[in-house]
Amino acid sequence: MSLLLVLGVSHLTSALYAPGSRIREKIESKKITSQVKEKLPEKYGPYYFDQPIDHFSLNTSTFKHRYWANTDHYKQGGPVILYNAGETPADDRSFYVINSTMAELAKRLDGIIIVMEHRFYGTSMPAPDFSAKSLVTLNTKQALEDIASFIKDLKLPNLDIELPPAPETKYIVYGGSYSGNLAAWMRLKYPHLVFAAVPSSAPVHMSYDFYQYFEPIRKYGPKHCIKAIHSVILFVDHILFSPLEGPKIRLKERFGAQDLKHDDDFAELLSYPLGLWQAMTPASNPFVEEFCSVFEGLSSVHDYVEAYGNYTKSIIKKACDKEENVNECMDTHDPRGKMYTDVTNENRAWLWQVCTEYAYWQTGAPLWKSTIVSRKLNTAWFQRQCPLTFGEHEVPRRPIWRKINREYEGWYVSLDRVFWIDGEYDPWREDSIQSESAPDRSDWEEDAKYVVLPKSVHHWDFFVSETVSESIKNTQEQVYTSIRKWIDEADQPSATFAMKYQSPN
Ligand SMILES: *[C@@H]1O[C@H](CO)[C@@H](O)[C@H](O)[C@H]1NC(C)=O
Ligand SMILES: *[C@@H]1O[C@H](CO)[C@@H](O)[C@H](O)[C@H]1NC(C)=O
Ligand SMILES: *[C@@H]1O[C@H](CO)[C@@H](O)[C@H](O)[C@H]1NC(C)=O
Repeated sequence: MSLLLVLGVSHLTSALYAPGSRIREKIESKKITSQVKEKLPEKYGPYYFDQPIDHFSLNTSTFKHRYWANTDHYKQGGPVILYNAGETPADDRSFYVINSTMAELAKRLDGIIIVMEHRFYGTSMPAPDFSAKSLVTLNTKQALEDIASFIKDLKLPNLDIELPPAPETKYIVYGGSYSGNLAAWMRLKYPHLVFAAVPSSAPVHMSYDFYQYFEPIRKYGPKHCIKAIHSVILFVDHILFSPLEGPKIRLKERFGAQDLKHDDDFAELLSYPLGLWQAMTPASNPFVEEFCSVFEGLSSVHDYVEAYGNYTKSIIKKACDKEENVNECMDTHDPRGKMYTDVTNENRAWLWQVCTEYAYWQTGAPLWKSTIVSRKLNTAWFQRQCPLTFGEHEVPRRPIWRKINREYEGWYVSLDRVFWIDGEYDPWREDSIQSESAPDRSDWEEDAKYVVLPKSVHHWDFFVSETVSESIKNTQEQVYTSIRKWIDEADQPSATFAMKYQSPN
């Protein structure tokens, strides 16, 4: 099983993590990103599409937009499954064209599977760097128009017959996480080009203070572990919110961070292990294996603090081996820090997207809620980084998340021929249409499907292997039967009409 699974694991969740987290960035950058890279046969790409840099300007300059395509199973009339890789270089997802839920779907539908990169990720660069000036064309509207123009002008080099244009060829946009948002939004904004969509773990509802992110961890994490974290954070906040400096320094010392100047940076450091929850896969659980295990056999707050402290020390050692001290490694307050001045750092692309549009700041819970993240980690910690990274006048004072919710209808969006998939344990479910806070759509009249995969995390329907749960396999099967049905209905409009007409209710 392994190759794709391994590739999948390292990249599925890379960027939608806490934006602006230095420690995470540093740890991620040290990971070996993939095992032995088997080469994808050349006939699948990469290919390059001439994409306008700015769809809404008279200037017709283009950039090379990278994609891969598998046409092996295409039969005339078959659909195109189109996957946009979202906020990460698409290299390691190019394998999806031969081995993935989507490839399987394309094969069964006699269709084509395409993996396209998102602008400003990988080699699909409309501009030379990630300065604010370059990033002006990185936004939702341009990204959606990229997909639309791709659909409109697609000429596949590895298909020797002409592919009829949409809507004759049915495009089904499939996506996970942010790319799931794009799938839903394509169906919303370009219904004449996009026949159906499968958004998986798509946080289509933007929120500014997204403390709910940590709720599923608190609810579904191993009880003893959550109890330990909770009591450590209570202890930590008791000290951080007191006016006395001495105890604060001694506290930070216990976590190996005595020279870290700012309390909110310390709070953010402590939230690092919670990010491991999202990286869980059907085959591995780093949150439990790497982190919760440190609390085994312990029962006092004193011991919990010591164990959490030991763990944090080891993380610091891993992340900060290049810096003089912990403050230099993790301080987010110094405007002259390298993280703010290096315009070639590709992590800036997603940071730009959240700073300008989406927010999703993952914070400690408000006072009236139980929290497993220090309340010193607040929206200000994230928000401060936006002007420091891009310049005060280059980004809005706050992201335009409300406007995005209005424009794309957030979790109120109602669409036909959309198959929504979420994971019960996924932190991002809290901002998806299957959040418990989202409107109840049980009596909405839409031809849509909804599945919450039990005990699953971030778009687990993407995993193909013998070891995935029956519910994942069933869902993959249901996606096929639903799309098959939608295609058949569309191909025989009169029959559908007659059926509906005869139905007594
Ligand atoms: C596809 O990947 C899965 C693991 O995700 C593996 O079990 C399977 O052998 C792979 N199939 C092919 C044809 O490479
Ligand atoms: C069009 O845009 C390109 C790339 O941004 C730029 O180099 C070029 O000068 C522009 N052309 C005009 C006529 O403004
Ligand atoms: C923390 O690390 C120290 C030094 O390695 C060790 O002696 C101690 O037992 C550890 N404590 C816990 C709770 O793991």
